[in-house]
Amino acid sequence: MTSPAVRIENLTKIFPVPLRRQRVTAVRNLTFEVRPGEVYGLLGPNGSGKSTTLKILLGLVTPNQGRAMIFGKDSRDYHSRAAVGFLPENPYFYKFLTAAETLRFYGNVCGLQGATLNKRIDELLSLVGLEDARDRRIGGFSKGMLQRIGLAQALVQDPLLIVLDEPTAGVDPAGSHQIRDLILDLKKRGKTILLTSHLLEQVQEICDRVGIMARGEMIREGALEDLVSVKNQTEFIIENLSPEVRLQIEQLVQKSGSNLLSSRQPQRSLESVFLELTATQPQGSK
Ligand SMILES: Nc1ncnc2c1ncn2[C@@H]1O[C@H](COP(=O)(O)OP(=O)(O)OP(=O)(O)O)[C@@H](O)[C@H]1O
Ligand SMILES: [Mg+2]
Repeated sequence: MTSPAVRIENLTKIFPVPLRRQRVTAVRNLTFEVRPGEVYGLLGPNGSGKSTTLKILLGLVTPNQGRAMIFGKDSRDYHSRAAVGFLPENPYFYKFLTAAETLRFYGNVCGLQGATLNKRIDELLSLVGLEDARDRRIGGFSKGMLQRIGLAQALVQDPLLIVLDEPTAGVDPAGSHQIRDLILDLKKRGKTILLTSHLLEQVQEICDRVGIMARGEMIREGALEDLVSVKNQTEFIIENLSPEVRLQIEQLVQKSGSNLLSSRQPQRSLESVFLELTATQPQGSK
């Protein structure tokens, strides 16, 4: 049996509150798995322990109890992180480096050099839509641009597991749409993605499974399909329905003893209307 891409096992993290005799339990006896090749969304209100869980997985925070594993290796062993890319919640970069220099720096850290690295930098800048900003200093980047360079940095060594803490925070709708497509493309290429997000509509579009945390605990977990489908209801979407046929359907449903709860025209998402309207406008984020 192949090992899961991520295994979080009975994890507990308690932070002391300095100067007060109080403690915050950020993560409480948390267990879940991310399977290889899936997109897993870790959801939950502010302060529910999502980022702490990711930091423990990346070996940046030590748990009080339990353990985290990456492809079967304990995350306390730095070898476990060899094939992991991470976009932290508040990525910090050297302000005086340009976008290309930043990626060169991270590429070097990961052992990439020469023509391979040059090619990778070009690929990544185009992947996250920052080609036009390649020679601009990070210090002048907008929030969305910082998020994009953070994402490019996380992908520099073409990792197998990609951990993204709120990848679309501060990014405009067109940008978050691009990031969504990028995540789906990474999944197609066999990558495993673990992300947190407050944009539930997007989560619904890209995640195979989700876990919902509250106060450090997992309160619900499962395949997205199972979580959101209303089991005892059925939806039909019919094109060009004539009033006569519609009446017949309604009568048939009534006769059968079932309840017709609603019949309406399907709605587009506000996002798709926004994207269509703004598609021809120049994007300010480049
Ligand atoms: N270094 C720290 N020291 C003390 N408390 C901390 C520390 N890091 C996190 N916490 C606390 O742990 C709890 C969980 O925080 P965490 O950042 O994991 O939440 P989150 O689910 O990522 O929230 P958000 O959606 O706002 O990003 C919070 O109460 C937070 O204040
Ligand atoms: Mg967080």
